[in-house]
Amino acid sequence: MGPVPELDERARACARWLTEADEVLLASHIDADGLTSAAIAATALERANIPFEVVFKNQLDEAEIASIAACRQETVLFTDFGSGQLDYIAAHERAGDFEPVIADHHQPADATTEYHLNPLLEGIDGASELSGAGAAYLLARALAAVTDEGPSDAGDSSPAVDNRDLAALAVVGAVGDMQAVGGELVGANRAIVEEGVAAGVLAERTDLALYGTQTRPLPKLLEYASEVRIPGISNDESGAVAFLSELDVELRTDGEWRRWIDLSDGERQTVASALVQRALERGVPAGKVDSLVGTTYTLEREQPGTELRDASEFSTLLNATARYERADVGLAVCLGDREEALARARRLLENHRRNLSEGLDLVQSMGVERTDHLQYFDAGDEIRETIVGIVAGMALGVDGVDPERPIVAFARKSDEETKVSARGTARLVGRGLDLSAVMGGAARAVGGDGGGHDVAAGATIPAGREQAFVSEADAIVAEQLN
Ligand code: C5P
Ligand code: C5P
Ligand code: ZN
Repeated sequence: MGPVPELDERARACARWLTEADEVLLASHIDADGLTSAAIAATALERANIPFEVVFKNQLDEAEIASIAACRQETVLFTDFGSGQLDYIAAHERAGDFEPVIADHHQPADATTEYHLNPLLEGIDGASELSGAGAAYLLARALAAVTDEGPSDAGDSSPAVDNRDLAALAVVGAVGDMQAVGGELVGANRAIVEEGVAAGVLAERTDLALYGTQTRPLPKLLEYASEVRIPGISNDESGAVAFLSELDVELRTDGEWRRWIDLSDGERQTVASALVQRALERGVPAGKVDSLVGTTYTLEREQPGTELRDASEFSTLLNATARYERADVGLAVCLGDREEALARARRLLENHRRNLSEGLDLVQSMGVERTDHLQYFDAGDEIRETIVGIVAGMALGVDGVDPERPIVAFARKSDEETKVSARGTARLVGRGLDLSAVMGGAARAVGGDGGGHDVAAGATIPAGREQAFVSEADAIVAEQLN
């Protein structure tokens, strides 16, 4: 049995169909979750001796699905998307264009297909309990099981044979999709973590939950922390250095700044306690202070001190490739290239970080517009449409932006089309917010299309329809929160 019993049957049905295929076209989404989904699926297909090709798409829509159909592959495996566009996909299936196999976690459109692996179909949450990479992992586990159904030594296979080693990438995908709840992975994700730990590819520990514990020099770790803003330290280089200098911790080794991972357990304790104390003194709300500490996921087979060692840093490295039309680079890194592809990915990461920081500055300087139930900004050409959703999510934590109101962001896609991204909070979802329905409904009302998850969703709409979209979205949010 696989790690998530509710999805076993679906996973096995998908796996059995794939083993019958002569060749598979694997189509996936261009973000960290989509890349890790593709890497997991590709590795599993390779190990099962099933020939395949990989394509990446920014957003699956009617035209993209038609272009996939034009490839004339009998079997198309969709990972990290497909469910939301099931109506279009099912139409191609009926026309005999291809047989779809879908491993996804987005809100399904109103249609059905036989080989459909999606947590939402079995009452498991697709925004917090299983990612696209998690769904791909369940498929990979099932592929190993069905190809190993012969009489031989069942039960004592190695992680690489039963695909449990791929749990590490599944966790990178889940973390990249921000699935952690209260600082840790839960539900089906948790079951995958346990398999990864048992297979020796993952370790989990309670640790400082700031981005960059593997790679950033200590002062930068604190200065750049955007998760929790601490007055006098965040965005304050000399403040961060001064704070650290007051502690009884050696800050440099041979003249070089030490990183978080270079500290002993005791030293980490010292810094973390001081940080918590400082945050409380400076009036950071207790809930925010709590989030300074969380569960971190370490990829045990990766080199310490590299981005790949930490699930969060790894996922950002991947977003830095795929969201800039270099999914090939990110996929190569996932598949084990530690030379050219990794070097390239690191250069892309510099650029991605700069873009995020400039994007956030832009939102802060232009501010957001408020309607009755939401807030929005239009980045026009200033923020790339592929990262405007990440910036919108980060913006929910900055001054001048209401942290308790859904945020909608526009960015130019082309002369004809505008990209929309929306982000909410767990609290709003608890009160009834479902951004997937908001984006889908408002987009269709203005001649576009959208979908996603309750807490994060997106859409593409005709250029010029932004104001009409805002009114539609506002009305739907009003209904949901009532
Ligand atoms: O397409 P996909 O499911 O991979 O993307 C999910 C998106 O939702 C990611 O960009 C992720 O950062 C975002 N998200 C979020 N907050 C959450 C859950 C997901 O911003 N709590
Ligand atoms: O692009 P963005 O990061 O804002 O996407 C948020 C979520 O909404 C992702 O899971 C993405 O796959 C989904 N989405 C969608 N349909 C769109 C745009 C985004 O399902 N047209
Ligand atoms: Zn995803």
